[in-house]
Amino acid sequence: MPHRIFAVLNGPNLNLLGQRQPEIYGQETLDDVERSCLAAANDLGCKVSWFQSNHEGALVDEVQRLRGNVDGLIVNAAAYTHTSVALRDALAACDAPFIEVHISNVHAREGFRQHSYLSDIASGVIVGCGPQGYELALRRLHALTARPQAE
Ligand code: DQA
Repeated sequence: MPHRIFAVLNGPNLNLLGQRQPEIYGQETLDDVERSCLAAANDLGCKVSWFQSNHEGALVDEVQRLRGNVDGLIVNAAAYTHTSVALRDALAACDAPFIEVHISNVHAREGFRQHSYLSDIASGVIVGCGPQGYELALRRLHALTARPQAE
């Protein structure tokens, strides 16, 4: 059985993880989070690709590129979560399921972070679990997309 392939998308300012507001987002860098995710993927026997951009169009391009090529996506669109109809449309056009992740508990923060353009079309949403949310999302996608074993 071929490996399932999942993609992780990270939006603006997540490249500054570990330096940026550590009291909210913690000390781990995005490279640390990627390493943990790749280790979890290795345990699960699946493949994970990793992408970060500060640019909305680049994220849309990446979702279009992944269309038909992945079994699921993990999306932390960061601030674009709260603003981007374009990213929503791209994800809606991508038939693979996605899990929305936020490191911080957006529901305990400013009002403008309480609305997401993605949540209602996501298969699931993980917020406030810190960087571990990525690994939880990966495990969920892995379970969600399990293929029946041939006898
Ligand atoms: C975030 C929450 C967003 O509101 C914010 O704009 C981010 C990060 C999170 O992971 O907690 O940049 O997506």
